[in-house]
Amino acid sequence: MGKLSLTGGARLVGTVRSSGSKNSTLAIMAGALLGKGETILHNVPEIGDVRTMMDMLRALGVGCDELAQGVVRIDATDIESTEAPYELVKKMRASFCVLGPMLARRGYAKVAMPGGCDIGARPIDLHVKGIQALGAVVNIEHGYVEAESDTLHGTQIYFNLPSAGATQHIMTTACLAQGVTTIHNAAMEPEVVELSNLLTKMGAIIHGAGTPIVRVEGVKELHGVEFEIVSDRMEAGAFAVATTITRGDVTVESIRPDHIEPFVLKLREVGAIVDMYDNAMRIRCNARPMATDITTMPHPGFPTDLQQPFAVMLSIAEGVSVVRENVYERRFKYVDEIARMGAEIKQDGRTAVITGVPKLFGAPVTAPDLRGGAALLCAGLVAEGKTVISGTEHMERGYENLAEKFNLLGAQIVSSSNDIERESILV
Ligand code: UD1
Repeated sequence: MGKLSLTGGARLVGTVRSSGSKNSTLAIMAGALLGKGETILHNVPEIGDVRTMMDMLRALGVGCDELAQGVVRIDATDIESTEAPYELVKKMRASFCVLGPMLARRGYAKVAMPGGCDIGARPIDLHVKGIQALGAVVNIEHGYVEAESDTLHGTQIYFNLPSAGATQHIMTTACLAQGVTTIHNAAMEPEVVELSNLLTKMGAIIHGAGTPIVRVEGVKELHGVEFEIVSDRMEAGAFAVATTITRGDVTVESIRPDHIEPFVLKLREVGAIVDMYDNAMRIRCNARPMATDITTMPHPGFPTDLQQPFAVMLSIAEGVSVVRENVYERRFKYVDEIARMGAEIKQDGRTAVITGVPKLFGAPVTAPDLRGGAALLCAGLVAEGKTVISGTEHMERGYENLAEKFNLLGAQIVSSSNDIERESILV
């Protein structure tokens, strides 16, 4: 397991550039499978999940390589294989979304049941329902989902809840169906809109992405394009929390203010001063944060991916806060870890009551998942003394050089491999 050591107390100051969005990139890489020809993606983050998706596309016999830093080429002229291997899908849930594009292009697809972070039940019923509604015969057997259909047909689909992944998956697949598909109660996440922008550039006809009703008019063929990945709102949120709790002054560049608005409004409630510009935000704070309540919900509600870092901020806030997690029931696994650092949190099911303490103390902790790891890093930044975080491979899956970026703002974070290097220099 990878480790990070850090000594808390430094005030974060300076300017940092937001990386490309993990979630947007993964959906877009799956969407690129629909295009006959070459798609070139810019601003792709260098993270573990993107490498997994690149391996997945190669396993399908699709050309996929990195042309330069942050530039990925996908050549989906041919999709040679129609089977997505278990070893790759188990690593990352988003890779399940190659099923629809393969089905639409080749008439058949076999994809292992997905894995990903252990943050609670993550069913695929809405994905399957959508694929079936488009006319495919679906079999789920021996840990694999198999779908078959010579021709997909446009239809009306209602999702019981607005799933980002299922909306993206079905919107993509419907692009090559015959006729019109309408998705009701669709997810409104910015990543759905970004994917729709890509598909539209590739020749698709999509209306309403970013609203609860998405309408897709099927076309015969899509082509490759060049496309710029939008910035990562979750990474920008982590910088904003870290700046607030260290009473710092940081400008995060290359962001999309409209994508991060719900989070920024809550950040102002705790006392941070946030100035928004066209594509940047400046965060300042010069006092202890104030308690507030958050409830995670699908977009435009408070994002579940920012619940953990935000809760770390509330753990040192003045007063009592209530955090309700409405999206994933097990997204409180970091609670025991920050309790080891002195936080006072009572959690029961989907609710955590946080009584703010004046300070946290450094301790050995373990990152339970991707976002929980970023939260522990924020906690370590503000804790008194040294924190050692194990399990940092979770963070490397989804954040591009997060520790290095914090260090450029004044943090003192050392990865265990650097630790070893340092020790050998000292010897
Ligand atoms: C995406 C994001 C993840 C984020 C989540 C919610 C990626 C790679 N991941 O995950 O970071 O936390 O959105 O914003 O983009 N559900 C079902 N049936 C399904 C599908 C989902 O019941 O078939 C439920 C899930 O259990 C969950 C809720 O729907 O409770 C939302 O999940 P969903 O929006 O699908 O999340 P992902 O797309 O997997």
